[in-house]
Amino acid sequence: MIKLHVNGTLHTIDAEGETPLLWVIRDNLGMTGTKYGCGIAQCGACSVMIDGVVTRSCVTPVESVADKAITTIEGIEQDPVGRRVVEAWVRHQVPQCGYCQSGQVMAATSLIKAKAHPTDDDINAAMINLCRCGTYTTIRAAVHDLAGSAEHAA
Ligand code: FES
Ligand code: FES
Repeated sequence: MIKLHVNGTLHTIDAEGETPLLWVIRDNLGMTGTKYGCGIAQCGACSVMIDGVVTRSCVTPVESVADKAITTIEGIEQDPVGRRVVEAWVRHQVPQCGYCQSGQVMAATSLIKAKAHPTDDDINAAMINLCRCGTYTTIRAAVHDLAGSAEHAA
């Protein structure tokens, strides 16, 4: 049994320790907003926050994150910066099919927390998750937009 803190709630999970966190989130907890894309840490669709650090859950053994604070897309709006990112995503109508977007929101939240006013180069370096729908231009516009108000976030 493994204890996991997910979105502020403590869960006791019956899973093998090496099980990828992604499958525990989706199958054990029923939170399906975090997506499976490649399974090899390349696409970013499975990104979640672990103690505030954006992390690819498809290659993260669940036993390695016991007692850490895990935030998924279902809980990202509990974070003031995460909420602003989601609001900017809605304003700019960023998602197309939406499949990659929970990971994109995680990456953007991490970026804005690290750098309130990112340059295009900062965005290029941080926003490396793949999007098969090609939403990169609207992602960039949304990040620049929300950066203007990030300095007021907690
Ligand atoms: S599913 Fe984890 S990086 Fe692609
Ligand atoms: S919105 Fe469809 S893959 Fe990114």
